[in-house]
Amino acid sequence: MTDEILTDPSKRIGILTSGGDCPGLNAVIYAVVKYARTVKNWRVYGIPNGTDGFVDIANGICQPEDLELHEHSFDIPGQKGINVLLFLSGSVLGCRGKKVPKPGEAAKILAGYRQIGLDALIAIGGDGSLEIIADLAQQGGWNLVAVPKTIDNDIPLTDRVVGFDTAVDTVAATLHNLSFTAASHDHVMIVEVMGRDGGHLALHAGIAGGADVILIPELIPYLTEKVVANICDRIAQIYRQRRKFALIVVAEGIDLDPLAEPCSKSAIGADLKQQIEQYVDHHSDPQQSDFCRLQADLEVRVSVLGRIQRSSPPTTLDRLLAVSFGVKAVDAIAQSQSPSQQMVVWKGGQTQIEPLARVIEKIRAEKAARQAAKFPACAAPVDPQGFMVHTARSLGIYVGD
Ligand code: F6P
Repeated sequence: MTDEILTDPSKRIGILTSGGDCPGLNAVIYAVVKYARTVKNWRVYGIPNGTDGFVDIANGICQPEDLELHEHSFDIPGQKGINVLLFLSGSVLGCRGKKVPKPGEAAKILAGYRQIGLDALIAIGGDGSLEIIADLAQQGGWNLVAVPKTIDNDIPLTDRVVGFDTAVDTVAATLHNLSFTAASHDHVMIVEVMGRDGGHLALHAGIAGGADVILIPELIPYLTEKVVANICDRIAQIYRQRRKFALIVVAEGIDLDPLAEPCSKSAIGADLKQQIEQYVDHHSDPQQSDFCRLQADLEVRVSVLGRIQRSSPPTTLDRLLAVSFGVKAVDAIAQSQSPSQQMVVWKGGQTQIEPLARVIEKIRAEKAARQAAKFPACAAPVDPQGFMVHTARSLGIYVGD
């Protein structure tokens, strides 16, 4: 795969993508290869399928020289020179879900790392996979630089992560598109959005996409009858204003009311539809014409966006963030005197470095505190008092009381 042989590289670094994919991973790889290999003349090894690639090396399934990357490794045949990696979603290295190594596997991972003779590793990952890799890095004394990525935006100590902006864009565009079919049929459109235990994606996309109701776990952890009543009031209010449709965004991390009659959660969008229909059926008050109209006219449809939220080509902002993080990660390796575990972050409009231990300590503390308070265990939740929630409320969007 090499374009020319580097006879005396001053460093050998590895790069891998860990956990779920998201837009912008390839743009980080592009920047790292371009800067480290082409500019600095280091050897860059693309580790396939997260840390599984190290196991394959240790087991002799692949050889280090097969993994070497250079600027044109992924060129389109016949169209050499186009920077496809900047624009391509997914990961050309492959992703594997975060998983704690099985007994004996950690030793193989460490052996694979040693076999390639790496001086440092750049790991692009989310909160869960970074915890696992940080642990391996400590065991192996690796020089590790983490790059934060996730459509969930739930990594502490950084203002931005790779992939989030694109996912917001995808969901917001979908909401806008759905509003036309909703308006044509007078439908209430529920859109179920990913985000795991947090509501960043639902909140940002809901505001940008013109939602009437945005339900996020930080404000509404459970779908109680009161919440459903408030949503129905909001729909009735919309009808009063002679608008014929409504858009509701619901984050996947919201749970059913634990105090209500036991019923199993299927998908929160479908559960919400059922509860809205039941509430309107049972609470129609002949004195309240809005509710009568609701009872007569209500038609609810659910769209579950699923993996489409991870798969669009990265936005300009995500590409800029990805390449800035890639360059900063290479700089961090160039400057480190001894093995350390760090993470590149975005703060105050620029890239910076944080000790990875600090990030992980914060992830663990935040998750533990939220679990103790019986909230979903998000490592960097939406601030209920923050400006985004204030923006939503100021626009008349129902986000909870
Ligand atoms: O963490 C990214 C994410 O897309 C979450 O938003 C979502 O809960 C999860 O991964 C879905 O992963 P999968 O499709 O593998 O269940």
